[in-house]
Amino acid sequence: MPKLCVNIDHVATVRQARRIKEPDPVFAALLAELAGAAGITCHLREDRRHIQDEDVVRLKAMVKTRLNLEMAVTEEMLKIAEDISPHMVMFVPENRQEVTTEGGLDIKRNLKRVKAATERMKAAGLKVSHFIDPEIVQIDAARECGANVIELHTGAYAEALTENDRLQELQRLEAGVLHASLNDQRINAGHGLNLRNVGPIAAIQGISELHIGHSIVSHSVLVGFERATREMLDAIIRGELLGARYTPAQVLTLFSP
Ligand code: PXP
Repeated sequence: MPKLCVNIDHVATVRQARRIKEPDPVFAALLAELAGAAGITCHLREDRRHIQDEDVVRLKAMVKTRLNLEMAVTEEMLKIAEDISPHMVMFVPENRQEVTTEGGLDIKRNLKRVKAATERMKAAGLKVSHFIDPEIVQIDAARECGANVIELHTGAYAEALTENDRLQELQRLEAGVLHASLNDQRINAGHGLNLRNVGPIAAIQGISELHIGHSIVSHSVLVGFERATREMLDAIIRGELLGARYTPAQVLTLFSP
């Protein structure tokens, strides 16, 4: 079954709306762990719009499972990762104007820079993940860079407007997972996943972890953080169990409105 890593950035987004101390993303991380999350993820953005440097230090001290630090490939972030030493760094593209991470990293085009950064992080004892679109060239480029794991971007699947587009995106992800598995690459996935669309993704064999943030935080405002995390875990388990009997495309039809 894919494990669930909970991204707590948007707890900090609510806090930063008032620039005070609550809600505390560290508390949310601990509640997610209590509910069964296998890891906690935070994204320290260049503009510090949600997670702050001090949060990362406190998360590192308090998280009992694994702390994943999502970050742009910049000198500033590489240095912070070396200082804080999270379990894993997750390289993502970053653009100041975007409301969330838009596309995957173009590793093919930035091979030299990403490879050097990957090697530097690995030399510091950190695992390295590359967040990429489910494209064969990017999957192969991540392998060439020596990434320990790739995270396939599920945003196009999550945002597809028609059943047909959703099916196509699901099949693109499935093909990416198959290609990477055949090359012994470890595969995570995430972005835009929620209680309604996670099932077919959890039904794909070979995904190690799902990284989910916004939908858990939004649901938690109404039902509490532990319950929101548990409900997501239940949805993943349901999808994975269905995946043992049906193809992901069939699971998609089961979840169609
Ligand atoms: N994975 C990566 C690399 C991300 O950038 C994000 C968003 O911060 C997520 C997963 C989680 O996406 P969402 O908040 O849409 O669940």
